[in-house]
Amino acid sequence: MTMTSPTIDLTMLADPALRADPYPLLRQMREASPLPLIDGLLVVTGRHRDCSAVLRHPHASSERYRSALTAPNLEISTLSFLSLDPPDHTRLRRLVSSAFTPRVVTALRPRITEIVDSLFRRVAEQGRMDVIDDLAYPLPVQIISELLGVPAEDHERLRAWSAQLARGLDPQFTDPDPERVAVAEGARTEFNRYFSTLIAQRRTHPREDLLSLLVHAESEGDKLNEEELLATCVLLLVAGHETTTNLIANAVLALLRHPDQLDALRARPDLVDGCTEETLRYDPPVQMTTRAARGTLPVGEVEVPDGGIAVLLIAAANRDPDVFDEPDRFDITRKPGGHLAFAAGIHFCLGAGLARLESAVALDAFAQRIVAPRLLEPVEYKANINLRGPARLDVTFDAIRSL
Ligand code: HEM
Repeated sequence: MTMTSPTIDLTMLADPALRADPYPLLRQMREASPLPLIDGLLVVTGRHRDCSAVLRHPHASSERYRSALTAPNLEISTLSFLSLDPPDHTRLRRLVSSAFTPRVVTALRPRITEIVDSLFRRVAEQGRMDVIDDLAYPLPVQIISELLGVPAEDHERLRAWSAQLARGLDPQFTDPDPERVAVAEGARTEFNRYFSTLIAQRRTHPREDLLSLLVHAESEGDKLNEEELLATCVLLLVAGHETTTNLIANAVLALLRHPDQLDALRARPDLVDGCTEETLRYDPPVQMTTRAARGTLPVGEVEVPDGGIAVLLIAAANRDPDVFDEPDRFDITRKPGGHLAFAAGIHFCLGAGLARLESAVALDAFAQRIVAPRLLEPVEYKANINLRGPARLDVTFDAIRSL
């Protein structure tokens, strides 16, 4: 079995030198799509119409662990509904959906604003900030932790486990790295142990949090078993950790590298939602996803046979010139819509509304309150291929305007 096509190799995406800018390679991959590898069992596509169609296709299964091709690393998320098909997916997703309705999310705005304000106050005197550590990371972590009911003093512990799990989500179709798989598995075990204790506490002392809601659903009968409960907690925490951090960081980075866009946002604060959408398109926090074929799965002109895998390069699809004019241009006034950053179909991101709101509040504050921000290049990236984003984002400034 070989992973290579004559010109393009999926493993090229793993090259650390490309982490800062994988887009030229993603463009080549899109132009060569659909790209059958491993005797056609694995098909890669970066074309928007293929990705969009696969995400909505009834033969596209999220139960990737069933595929013989799936490296063990992908099994770490086996039990969460991210990796389940209906009817289990429908049942579990429905249970948590009520915590993420537009009404619930909108009501979080004052709390999100309060957290951003307190984060800015912490760095105001220093004249510099690391946008990751001082804003983009603590904001989503605090919000999702408060929603779930995770105490603030535990955030640091969860941070390490979350990062290890996220790294385990990188594609390893060629050489699964046993050490990385073991680290991710270890993190999952720690998470499970941690949440088991918290769940036990909520059984006896329920509160007004999502964890208590899930525990209540479990106690009501066969709606959700203990394993599913644990997997759902871990999914929400990790999904709420890494992705939104990257969104805020990628947006700040793009604004600082395109000062005309930052000026436009300052002049017109109503462009803030456009800025979030454009970042999701231009530099998406989740760069790719996969689907297993349950029955024959068409990917453009080719078909993935039953049991094979389709690799969907979201980051390439979001710059497909068939859908977006001048796709490599960062333009916050672009008509929003059409990007696949939150996927599509039945697994469309459950936290999209929350992520958009956190991003809007953070970017509005950054644009309107930080005086004369200057980016310190070069920007260093995390090793992650899929949940890709800067490791640090150092910015100096003259002052922070108060509210
Ligand atoms: C910018 C931030 C975010 C991005 C780019 C993002 C992206 C995604 C993507 C691409 C998927 C679909 C994966 C697939 O099916 O292959 C997904 C699913 C999901 N996301 Fe997000 N996400 C973000 C933030 C969040 C937040 C803040 C939460 C929750 C607090 C969240 C919770 C979920 C859940 C629960 C799923 C599984 C949905 C399902 O399987 O039905 N996400 N997300």
